[in-house]
Amino acid sequence: GVRAELMADLPISTSGMQAIDVAWLCARAGGGLALERFRGDHAIDVKGHRNIVTETDVAAELRIIEILRAEFPDHSILSEETAADTDASRGWTWVIDPIDGTKNYAIGIPFWCTNIALCLDAEPVVALTYDAVHDEGFWAVAGQGAFCGDRPIVASDKPDVFSSVLGIDLGYDDAAGARQLDLMREIFPNTQGIRITGSAALGMAYAACGRLDLYAHLNVSPWDIAAGILLVREAGGAVSDRAGGPMRITSKGFAAGGRQVHDDFMARYAGAQGGK
Ligand code: IPD
Ligand code: CA
Ligand code: CA
Repeated sequence: GVRAELMADLPISTSGMQAIDVAWLCARAGGGLALERFRGDHAIDVKGHRNIVTETDVAAELRIIEILRAEFPDHSILSEETAADTDASRGWTWVIDPIDGTKNYAIGIPFWCTNIALCLDAEPVVALTYDAVHDEGFWAVAGQGAFCGDRPIVASDKPDVFSSVLGIDLGYDDAAGARQLDLMREIFPNTQGIRITGSAALGMAYAACGRLDLYAHLNVSPWDIAAGILLVREAGGAVSDRAGGPMRITSKGFAAGGRQVHDDFMARYAGAQGGK
């Protein structure tokens, strides 16, 4: 059937593992290292206004890359801290964010994750968003549904923005963050709640499993969202860029979550906002 064919199309690693199992190995290595160091002091570098990186981001990323190089020597790697310029448009590419939610991580808020996706020609086909603090892994393989651990997950069935809890983040672009806040000001109080998560990747995973009904952002990078795109799709949700077009790993702005709330959000609030 379709399931077997999809599996057959996915690469097997040097040591005979499925790609999703290699993703788990990477997430436990990188996320585990970050968790060991979480409650300690963090050496911090400033990358840009509001944008920081700790030495653990880099160390976790190197651990992940070491595993990927051994298991899939022919694959490309696009990763936030050490290989951010890799062209992911062709072939097999692992898209990695060793710690998504670094600001939370650095100030001790236990809401961050390790984000890993395998893409074929820039389409995510294997996804894992791993929250080491809570030992929760949200994962999906194209065509096979989405899961949290061994439990299948589904996106929200809420009918509209009014009945929904929305997740957002502001990102590191001042204008995009301000537009996002303006939009929330327009929506509030006609919603059940608004959460600024501090981790776009966990925000998407929460939208995939219906904890959040919708998650939206206006300025992301491929490693923030590659896994989440597949998670939300496989969970039966909707994900689009902020012009309503198809979501790509290169999209800057997007909305992701339950189908109906997504469509209501786009039609009533965000459609004219652009932010592709
Ligand atoms: C950031 C987080 C944050 C989002 C930013 C991302 P980082 O990733 O996901 O929630 O608003 O746009 O860059 O820097 O913690 O890996
Ligand atoms: Ca990130
Ligand atoms: Ca990061």
